[in-house]
Amino acid sequence: MGYNRHKRCLIAGNWKMNGLLEDAEQFIGEMVANPAPESVEVAIMAPFTLLHPMKGPLDKQGIRLGAQNVYFEAKGAFTGSISAMMLRDIGCHYAIIGHSERRHIMGESDEQIKAKLHAAWAAGLDPILCIGEQLSEREDGSTNAVLETQLQVLKGAMADAPLTVAYEPVWAIGTGLTPTLEQVTETHAFIHDVLKGLGKPSRVLYGGSANAGNAHELLSCEGVNGLLVGGASLSAASFSKIIEAAGKVAREVKA
Ligand code: PGA
Repeated sequence: MGYNRHKRCLIAGNWKMNGLLEDAEQFIGEMVANPAPESVEVAIMAPFTLLHPMKGPLDKQGIRLGAQNVYFEAKGAFTGSISAMMLRDIGCHYAIIGHSERRHIMGESDEQIKAKLHAAWAAGLDPILCIGEQLSEREDGSTNAVLETQLQVLKGAMADAPLTVAYEPVWAIGTGLTPTLEQVTETHAFIHDVLKGLGKPSRVLYGGSANAGNAHELLSCEGVNGLLVGGASLSAASFSKIIEAAGKVAREVKA
C-alpha cells in the first residue's frame, strides 16, 4: 500500500528557479481543465516572485502554495532574505527546507536547517524537510546512517508541529535515475522508523526524477505518501498525469 490511510497523499511541484509570470498564467490555465481528485492534495512550490500572483488562482483550484526556502531570522537587517512570517503573510501553506541544492550548492548546514524548521513552525508554515544521500553514500552502504543524521534536526521538535519529509536521493534529482522500487520501499520504511523513534511520525514523500511514467509505481510502494516533483511539475500536462496516477493509487488502495 502506497499510503497512510489517514492522510491524503501529497503531490508537490518544486519549480526551483524557473517560471516567469506568463508561464505561471499558462500553467494555471491548463490546470483548470484537470481538477485533482478529492483523494490527492496538490501544492506548488513556486519561486518567491510568483508566490503572490499565483496565490489567488491556485486557491480557486484548491491547490496549496509553498515556498522553496525560508530565512531563519524573523526580520531585520538581512538584505535579500525572506522570512517565514513574510511567506505566511502572503498565503503560503508549505515551505521546502533543506533541499539538496541548498545543502550542496549554497552550503546549508544541518544547524541552519534546524533553525529554518523552527522559524517555519513559529510562523505557522508547514515545512517539507528534504533529506537524501549522495551516490557515493548509496554505493558505500551509508545511506541509512546519512538519513538518520539528517533527521536529527527534528530532535526537540514539538510532537504536534506539522511536518512532511521528502526523501530525495541526491543522485536521482534531475538525472532521470531513480532507485529501484525495492530501495524506495526499504528506505521509506527506515525513515518512517526513525521518525517514529524521534516522536515525529510524518508523511514521507519520494522525490528525484519522478514523472508521469513512474509516478504510479513509486506511489504504490509501501510508505510512499506522495511525491516531490521537480522538472515534471513545470508542464501542466505532465504534472496533471502525475496527479491522475496518485488518484488511481488511492482508488486501488481503497478497493
Ligand atoms: P526532479 O527534482 O524531479 O527534477 O528530479 C526533484 C526535486 O529536486 O525536488
